[in-house]
Amino acid sequence: MRRLAVLLPLLFVAPLYAQTLTVASPGGALVVALDLDDEGAPLYRVRRGGRDLVLPSRLGVVFREGPRFDTGLRVLGTATATRDTTWETVWGERQFVRDHHNEGRVAFADADGARIDLVVRVFDDGLGFRYEWPEQPALADAVITDERTAFRFAEAPEAWWIPAYQRERYEYLYRHTPLAEAGRFQADVNVDTPSQPHPYRPAQAVHTPLTLRFPESGLYAAIHEAALVDYASMTLVVDDAASVHCDLVPWSDGAKVYATAPFVSPWRVLLVGETPGALAESDLVLNLNEPSRIEDPSWIEPQKYVGIWWAMHIDQKTWHSGDRHGATTEEAERYIDFAADHGFGGVLVEGWNRGWDRNWIGLNSDFSFTEPYPDFDLEAVARYARARGVRLIGHHETGGDVPTYEAQLDAAMALYARLGVRAVKTGYVEWEQGVQRVTPEGDSTREWHHGQYMVRHHQRVVETAARHGIMVNIHEPIKDTGLRRTWPNLMTREGARGMEYNAWSRDGGNPPEHETVLPFTRLLAGPFDFTPGIVDLTLPRKPANRVNSTLAKQLALYVALYSPLQMAADLPEHYEARPDALRFIEDVPVDWADSRVLHGAIGDVIVMARKDRGSEDWYLGAVTDEEGRTLSVPLDFLHGGRRYVAEVYRDADDAHWETNPEALTLDEGLVDAATVLPLRLAPGGGLAARFRAASADEEAAMPRLVP
Ligand code: NOJ
Repeated sequence: MRRLAVLLPLLFVAPLYAQTLTVASPGGALVVALDLDDEGAPLYRVRRGGRDLVLPSRLGVVFREGPRFDTGLRVLGTATATRDTTWETVWGERQFVRDHHNEGRVAFADADGARIDLVVRVFDDGLGFRYEWPEQPALADAVITDERTAFRFAEAPEAWWIPAYQRERYEYLYRHTPLAEAGRFQADVNVDTPSQPHPYRPAQAVHTPLTLRFPESGLYAAIHEAALVDYASMTLVVDDAASVHCDLVPWSDGAKVYATAPFVSPWRVLLVGETPGALAESDLVLNLNEPSRIEDPSWIEPQKYVGIWWAMHIDQKTWHSGDRHGATTEEAERYIDFAADHGFGGVLVEGWNRGWDRNWIGLNSDFSFTEPYPDFDLEAVARYARARGVRLIGHHETGGDVPTYEAQLDAAMALYARLGVRAVKTGYVEWEQGVQRVTPEGDSTREWHHGQYMVRHHQRVVETAARHGIMVNIHEPIKDTGLRRTWPNLMTREGARGMEYNAWSRDGGNPPEHETVLPFTRLLAGPFDFTPGIVDLTLPRKPANRVNSTLAKQLALYVALYSPLQMAADLPEHYEARPDALRFIEDVPVDWADSRVLHGAIGDVIVMARKDRGSEDWYLGAVTDEEGRTLSVPLDFLHGGRRYVAEVYRDADDAHWETNPEALTLDEGLVDAATVLPLRLAPGGGLAARFRAASADEEAAMPRLVP
């Protein structure tokens, strides 16, 4: 990472009598005020464009047998700073990120002199604040039992939400309701036994990012967090039609966070924008993370991959051994050949290692992360891959048995490193509060996927992987909070309903609107290993299931849903039958110089344009819900002085996600920055386009795409 601009620190400590600190964003639109009420409870409020956005709302943290930082505080001093820097990403949605904010700091003390600082950074597109605890004897061995942070909005918003503390972790369809109803969750439809009452399940808890729309002001906002390094995840509990408060995911022993001062909380983030696209374009979460700790990131390679994966989800192959075992040497070499022939960098192989032959979820597992099944010659397959110029992508499914995985972690990563494997997909399939932990006393207990135990575990995996030169893709993960900036080998993750739900979920798979919600909800956190690119959409082997999408939409997802590791999820034979669609999947990059939401309505439609980092090409992805749409998109993002060849993959005129999903039409013609591109999206459809610089011959001979 390169520092491009100068830091402009402006720091002063205000006199002790200052009770309030006001910090405005660089452009002045957002203003945050910090204060203490009559009882010495810290409060903050936010105004945008001269109107209240967040009314005075609680701040504070409570410790077990220690200080309370939610009341009885006094102000020791305040400080402010201004920063305007630009940094270069190792990979991502854009190459250069500007971090322009004003910072305010208030140092508080309780009656006994215990210290807590509140730091707020205010950007034009939102704000982040966090708690910081300097070193102090009272917090040498601290246990947080509660965080009081609240968000009381001036207006009752609509919300797009998924429930927290439920069985399937983050894997629920987003619902769109008044905030007052958020978190009211009906039973799971995908399981036989509904969740049992749980001792820790607040009535209306939702995960973040929580996306909001304020009907009167027309503003959009999202609550999330940044830099969740060693703390519990923040969920939000609905208090009333306009208010939520922070609820930290507990350990099984009831503690929320174990810590030793000095330490800091994650940033509590509020993104604010006039359009949903403004939220999706924000770099604020990344800006609140620390710069990269990987000095030489040259081994980190965003890439597309294929894998022995979908065949299991559509029940053609199995993870476990036997007649239909997917991970055989022969099958892996077939995928490697396909990858090499079509320019894919990686081949994921799931089910290669011992341990899949019994129910592998939630038990003391049999998983070995170093021993392959006898019909999978790991060394030979890895050698074959290297000889063909591709690399295996490793797979570590834990079934939630974290102690067994941690015991083998270093050896497992070392094995992959020795075989030239540069990426591993991890997995934590377990339900509810089912992740295993062994206490220091040797007792076995169960933890949520989202508490501090798993935050620490994922951090351990990412840092171990980094030492071995390995990139990580987490399934059933902890949510993304922008740590990819600090650990750019932390590439992507699941953390929402991905493609696989179309193969087997009992509720009919992901409805067509799902992918028009994701860019404005889950993707606000960071990259998503959604695994797009299914070209055989009707799933002949699975009569009760299908992929609820047209083929053009599958292509558009490569642009609409960002991931630096992007799967071409279907089977080689299916791609060989659709070379027209495969061409776009081969061409589309996974690392961008710039990304722009051209049009977005949450749950209806998104049109995304991105510029390739390695060339002058631009790409466009448009995705609609179950409604067909016609839109006009000015191509004014293209370079003004140039002609481009547009390669447009669109829904055929009679395409429809239910009745005719695979009908794809390719249009080609010249365009330039003055062109207005008509987009016709079929119901459940989409459109994908590549714009590449035209050659002199093409400029002379090719007709214009839009007459
Ligand atoms: C669930 C993951 O999301 C999926 O990608 C994987 O194939 C299975 N677990 C098995 O690990």
